[in-house]
Amino acid sequence: MKMLWITDDFLPHLGGSRLLYYQTIKCLPPGEVTILTKRRPGWREFDARETIPIKRGFFKKLSIHPLLNELPVYVEMMALGACRSLRLRPDVIVCGELLPTGLVGRMLSLAGGAPYLVYIHGEEVNVLKNLRGEKALAFSVLRAADAVVATSTPAHGEALRQGVRPDRLHLLTPAVDDYFFNAKPCPERARSRYGLEGKMVLLTVGRLVERKGHELVIRALPQMRREFPDLAYLIVGAGPMEEKLERVAREEGVSGAVIFAGRLSREELVECYAACDVFVMPHRELPDGDTEGAGIVFLEAAALGKPVIAGITGGTGDSVLDGETGFRVDSTSPQEIVQRASQLLRDRALARRMGEAGRRGVLRERRWEDRAQELRRICLDMVRRKSSESTIRRHR
Ligand code: GDD
Repeated sequence: MKMLWITDDFLPHLGGSRLLYYQTIKCLPPGEVTILTKRRPGWREFDARETIPIKRGFFKKLSIHPLLNELPVYVEMMALGACRSLRLRPDVIVCGELLPTGLVGRMLSLAGGAPYLVYIHGEEVNVLKNLRGEKALAFSVLRAADAVVATSTPAHGEALRQGVRPDRLHLLTPAVDDYFFNAKPCPERARSRYGLEGKMVLLTVGRLVERKGHELVIRALPQMRREFPDLAYLIVGAGPMEEKLERVAREEGVSGAVIFAGRLSREELVECYAACDVFVMPHRELPDGDTEGAGIVFLEAAALGKPVIAGITGGTGDSVLDGETGFRVDSTSPQEIVQRASQLLRDRALARRMGEAGRRGVLRERRWEDRAQELRRICLDMVRRKSSESTIRRHR
C-alpha cells in the first residue's frame, strides 16, 4: 500500500501532532509513506538523516486579507500534491489537518480516485467553530472523508456531532516513544545541572504558550513555598511566553525558584522527567477556543512513573485518569493547583501509587507500534471499500 501523507507542518519543527505523525510513520513498513510538508529551519539536515521520503514546499501565507492569506498555500500544496500523486499513484491520501490539507486531499482524491483520511485532534476543531467561513469548509471536508482519525475523545465526539458516519470514525489516542519506557536516566545529572539537589521539583514540559498554564503554576508557587520552602519549578521548552513568565516570576518574588531550561535534547528531557516529584501542566481553554488535545507530555511523565496534574478542559482526560494517575484541576483557580500539588508533595505514598498506575497504563496501552497497525488496517479497509464501490459503479 502506498500512502501520500500531507501535513502543513512536520519535524524538525517540534509539536505534539508532528511527533504523532512521525512516530506512526516510523512504525509503518518502510517505503509505504511519502510525506508532503513545509520547509522549516533545519529541514535539510533532518531529511538527509531520515529514510522516509519527504517532499517540502514553502507553504507561505500572505498577510493582506483573512480570506486571501491562505491562497498561496492552497495553490502550492495542490500543485505539489498533484505532482506527487501522478508519480506515486497513492492508494490512500492521509491529511494531517482539516484545512488546508484536508481540502487539498479531498481535491486530489476526487481527481485521482484514492480515498482520503483526515486527522483531527480537538483544539483545531474548537478554534474552527469560531471562524464562520472556514468552519463550513472544514466540516464539509470532515464529513466527506473516507475515514477520520480523532486523537482525543472530545475530537471524536465533535466529529460525530458534525455528522461523520460512526463506521468511518476511529479514535487513535497518542502513544509514547519507546525511548521513554526503556531509558535509564540519571536524575542527579538534571538536579545538579539546574541546582535542584535536595529540593522538591515541579516540572512542566511543552511550548511556552498561554494555554499550557505555566503562569498559573508560577502564581501558585509563593503559597506552596510556605509549606515547602525548597520547592522549585523547572520549565522545559521554548516559546513566545518566556519573557512574560520571567516577569511573572519576578512579580511573585520566586525568580530564584523558577528555572527555564529551554529546549532540550531527548536525553536531557528524560532526565528532567526522572528528576521531578510532580509533573504539572494546568492547561486551560483560551477565549478563541484553543485548548489542549491529548497531551503527550502527561504520558511521557507517566512512563517515568511520575504523578501528573492537568487542566480539566480539552482531551487530556484520555491521558490523565483523575484520582488514579494524577489529578485534573480547574485551572482557572490557583487554589486547586496549590491543593493538589501540595497533596502530592506531602503524601509521597500517594504520589508513588499514582506514578506507578500511570506507568502501568501507558506500558499496556500506549505503544506507537499498535497505533500504526491500527492506522494501516483503517487504510486497507478504505482501499477495499473504494475499490468495491467502483466495481459496483462499473456494473451499473
Ligand atoms: N526533546 C524535547 N525538548 N521535546 C520537547 C521539548 C523540548 O524542549 N518541548 C516539548 N517537547 C516534546 C514533548 O516531549 C512532547 O513529546 C511534545 O513535544 C509535546 O507534545 P504535546 O504535549 O502533545 O503538546 P503539543 O501542544 O505540541 O501538541 C498538541 O497536539 C497533540 C497531538 O494531538 C496538543 O494539543 C497535545 O495536547 C496533543 O496531544
